[in-house]
Amino acid sequence: MKDIIILAIETSCDETSVAIIKNGREILSNVIYTQIDIHKKFGGVVPEIASRKHIEKIDLIFAQSLEESGLNFKDLDAIAVTYGPGLVGALLVGMSYAKALAFGLGIPLIPVNHIDGHIAANYLAFPDLEPPYIALIVSGGHTHIIDVLGYGEYKVLGRTRDDAVGEAFDKVARTLGFPYPGGPYIDKAAKDGNKEAIKFPRTYLEKGSFDFSFSGIKSSVLNYLNSMKMKGIEVNANDVAASFQEAVVDVLIEKIISASLKMNHKEIIIAGGVAANSNLRKRLKEEAKIHHLDVFYPPLSLCTDNAAMIGAAAYYQFKKGIFANLDLNSVPNLKL
Ligand code: KG4
Ligand code: ZN
Repeated sequence: MKDIIILAIETSCDETSVAIIKNGREILSNVIYTQIDIHKKFGGVVPEIASRKHIEKIDLIFAQSLEESGLNFKDLDAIAVTYGPGLVGALLVGMSYAKALAFGLGIPLIPVNHIDGHIAANYLAFPDLEPPYIALIVSGGHTHIIDVLGYGEYKVLGRTRDDAVGEAFDKVARTLGFPYPGGPYIDKAAKDGNKEAIKFPRTYLEKGSFDFSFSGIKSSVLNYLNSMKMKGIEVNANDVAASFQEAVVDVLIEKIISASLKMNHKEIIIAGGVAANSNLRKRLKEEAKIHHLDVFYPPLSLCTDNAAMIGAAAYYQFKKGIFANLDLNSVPNLKL
């Protein structure tokens, strides 16, 4: 069978990335330019700046990706692009570039949902992984438990009712004085902290619900820090980080394990930026083992935003003939 080579573009937030993927499973190149250092100064992503940086960088990142793959234009079978969810101006940069390429080369344009991409990151890391399985998506904008029935076929079992888990990590980190994005700093600080030091609440919601709520724990950490400040007591940031992280991970693990047992799936995958969290990775593996479940998570480099995962998801759309016309628009709040 002929190999299918897809060039994928991701510009939904603050990473400009272009990748070339063979048969949905093999990375020929995956070039990522991150704007984190620029947005750090503002404590979060500034949409206007993100769009401008994408437009400055995309041509360079594209050229580098093609060169690293060792391929030519004529080797490409399709162009894939993230069309949502994400920042509208940022998405439009990648989409315009992708449309021009697809039109110029006379090959199909594949519209990819960013969340679908995060799930598909696991197909790059685990060549034998196939649906069905349960997926936990934990990123800066999303917290979902999904029953993955087939490639690109999803049933959402639960989602956050307020903050995304990454958002909670970032807000708590910011209050502790860590730079943006704060998740990795909390992860690191927690390693030197005592997870039993402070009892933060765990919100499980109604019995049997797979939904999440992280606004309670976020407020509870902020209240704790304020009250310590008022009393003039110095806080140990490592202890706060460890206690907060432990509470969040407790809830994530309890829900994802019970969802897999309920749906009778033997495999769990985790994806999205927070899937890089070392405590979540370690504890989920341990807990899953007790229930005879297997856990898969992508390597750190494929957890945060990248175009390789978009190319992996796009391959399964290519096989089903799910293409877009050149009037494709961005959908900033696109659902799965
Ligand atoms: O998937 P992603 O790169 O972007 C979105 O689509 O949102 O996720 C970014 C999020 C940020 O909130 C960041 O703080 C969090 O992932 N993150 C982490 C870790 N690494 C990244 N959170 C906890 N622990 C980490 N090690
Ligand atoms: Zn993402």
